[in-house]
Amino acid sequence: MRALTLAEYGGPELLTVSELPSPAPRAGQILVRTAASGVNPVDLLVRGGAMAANISHPFPLVLGWDLSGTVEAVGAGVDRFAPGDRVVAMSAQYATGIGTHAEFVALPAAIAAPAPRTVDLVEAAALPLAGLTAYQALEKLAPRSGERLLISGAVGAVGGFATQLAASRGVEVIALARPQDAELARELGASSVLSADEPLPTAIADVLLETAGIAPKVIGAVRDEGRAGSIYAPEPPKAERGITVLQTFVEQDGDQLAILSALVDEGVLTLRVAEIGDFAFGPEAHRRLAAGGSRGKFLLTP
Ligand SMILES: NC(=O)c1ccc[n+]([C@@H]2O[C@H](COP(=O)([O-])OP(=O)(O)OC[C@H]3O[C@@H](n4cnc5c(N)ncnc54)[C@H](OP(=O)(O)O)[C@@H]3O)[C@@H](O)[C@H]2O)c1
Repeated sequence: MRALTLAEYGGPELLTVSELPSPAPRAGQILVRTAASGVNPVDLLVRGGAMAANISHPFPLVLGWDLSGTVEAVGAGVDRFAPGDRVVAMSAQYATGIGTHAEFVALPAAIAAPAPRTVDLVEAAALPLAGLTAYQALEKLAPRSGERLLISGAVGAVGGFATQLAASRGVEVIALARPQDAELARELGASSVLSADEPLPTAIADVLLETAGIAPKVIGAVRDEGRAGSIYAPEPPKAERGITVLQTFVEQDGDQLAILSALVDEGVLTLRVAEIGDFAFGPEAHRRLAAGGSRGKFLLTP
């Protein structure tokens, strides 16, 4: 089977389309014929070796943390899915060691969910990792209806899902976005949009969700005793003025992913795709994701 692999840590030019043996599903696993898998910022970290201490995986390393596809076979004890089912899944590589940029992927049934029925199966690959991160960060921060939630990077992959989820729950979303993204932020559900290029007013939000890596610039916008969440580990918000800081590192979860799939079908969440290419597009997708400004996911098809 084809897979996008890495023989050593380094730059995007080291990504190689390889032939590997197809896996077989073990007990509790499903074998997925991949429709597409997303390129996420974490793939850039894995590729460069920044997660080498967390991921014990023999080379060649198959990259990729999420996918959409069709169940090809099921292992012993799996009753959650049957061959032919359309699924999405997120595989936290530090936990599973399983990469998703492969034609066939065997992964635990518990981390998969039915794919949204109303979108193309390839586009469904835009959902798992970014959707779960937004969902889990909001679970931690628990913004209530009527509270003001400032989201930095509000039109990014995670920030965009967080904006849609929070707005659908009656939370007043204040988007922090680049000036050219103001209209998109409103389309996603933001009540107001502030420019990331201007100094922020102080104490305008009860809660902050920081996805852009600019915590020191934005923490002043949170009121005393508010909550601040980060998904951007290198520069988390600092606890000050009684603000509770809540970090999220995304975890695989088939049940939460099923909730997100249903929200896509209900029209609460829209999936945004920047470009779809085959595995040979991998190096270019990595470069473009690193460059920024993409406004949607890069998806790779086998
Ligand atoms: N902890 C976790 O579990 C977890 C999970 C997923 C992602 N992450 C991390 O979270 C971050 C966001 O991930 P993502 O997939 O949402 O990435 P993304 O799609 O690239 O979104 C990031 C957004 O932030 C914006 N941004 C970046 N710097 C900015 C600045 N100085 N001012 C204003 N806006 C700025 C970007 O705009 P431009 O494109 O114009 O720069 C983009 O809209 C990444 O660092 C990723 O590694 C962590």
